[in-house]
Amino acid sequence: MKSKLILLPVIYLLIISASSCSNHGQLKDSDVIAETNRNFVASDWPDRIMQCVSENPQSEISLTWRTSKAISEGYAEYTKNITSVKSDDKVQVKQAKIVPVSFENHQDHYFQVRLDGLEPSSSYMVRVGNDQYRSEWFSVLTAPSSFEPFSFLYFGDVQNDIKEYAPRIFRHASANYPDARFILHSGDLVLSSGNDDTWGEWFYAGNWLLQQIPSMVAAGNSDHFRWQNEPVDKRLLFPQWHGSFLMPANGPKGFENLVYHFDYPGIRIISLYSNFESTTDNDREIYIRPETMLTENMFHKQILWLEEILESNTQPWLAVLMHHPVFTARQERDNELMQEYFLPLFEKYKVDIVFQGHDHVYARGINPEMNNSTPVYVISIAGGKMRKVDKSHQWIYQSIENTQLYQTIHITENMLEFKAIDLGGSTRDKFQIILENNKKSLKGF
Ligand SMILES: [Fe+2]
Repeated sequence: MKSKLILLPVIYLLIISASSCSNHGQLKDSDVIAETNRNFVASDWPDRIMQCVSENPQSEISLTWRTSKAISEGYAEYTKNITSVKSDDKVQVKQAKIVPVSFENHQDHYFQVRLDGLEPSSSYMVRVGNDQYRSEWFSVLTAPSSFEPFSFLYFGDVQNDIKEYAPRIFRHASANYPDARFILHSGDLVLSSGNDDTWGEWFYAGNWLLQQIPSMVAAGNSDHFRWQNEPVDKRLLFPQWHGSFLMPANGPKGFENLVYHFDYPGIRIISLYSNFESTTDNDREIYIRPETMLTENMFHKQILWLEEILESNTQPWLAVLMHHPVFTARQERDNELMQEYFLPLFEKYKVDIVFQGHDHVYARGINPEMNNSTPVYVISIAGGKMRKVDKSHQWIYQSIENTQLYQTIHITENMLEFKAIDLGGSTRDKFQIILENNKKSLKGF
């Protein structure tokens, strides 16, 4: 795999132009998304209401929602007056942008709006929709202007039988950690062989938790649906991804909503796109958008951006969110590309923790070649599809099988504390990274 990445620029151009001729411009409506099993049909009322992390969380709140195509206007109303019912005189309004998502026989409208100019450490009441069809009022919270201890949540893949298994893990986490400031989802939110119902189930499971606490997402392989009438590995990111997500627009061009970073006072978290393992073979292709095919060229673009963002970090804590693990916990799997290109940068710039998914197990450890030091690599699983851990992997310190988990991360000025919690409320794994005299050390390993 290493040698395949060392390609001459001429070859990149040939690959890109060949793909342009053979595939681009041929995306028919019927290829966009199947119409079957529509159990979560859009209506004129806003649904799938989502809060995404913002580049400036002290002053911005990013919101999205869905309606039927019949609704051609949408806006968010917001006010700092959170206690009074009659607060119309203080309500501000901001128009939303429409992102259409096309199916075989119909189209849905997704709305996106970024509220700005807000005050730090402040609660706002918000509702979305239009004059006739609008949501309930719900509360959102901006970040503090400087560091204060806080917690956030991290979920692994939910992906399979979402309606059956995911609600209970989201509910348990939100009931026990209601003060979590944001949520990380490490990809495979939905199922690639599914259709719009898989998104309906994800929003059913997350429900108002997704409205009230901002989420940060990384895309997994299952967040790409299989292109009809094409080999199974030609995959296109679900268009609902770009409808539902309005992530910080600070990543490299072509990776919108996929590669970006989020700074919350005290921590920088970088979302990476790891769905590259199959793109080195010309007959296996992954598309972010119909016009964007992933190539080694795109991979290198992400690496260059990553180094810049790691180098410019000024937050005391530094983390990465991505789907494919640098070190696998499974048998007969490996992610050499991650080890060769991501790992050296993570170590050079002292990333503290890498949040990952994909393997459908829980595993936590460090690079066996490192002497008891960060980054800590964690793989977790929130959903109902379970697999076996290959315990012969040297990097693994702790592993758990066949258990739905969520994680809470608590940050103070001199400590990052990580806990993996099961549905019975038991802490199944725990460790700390301690910051003392400008040096970080691991506790609980
Ligand atoms: Fe996956």
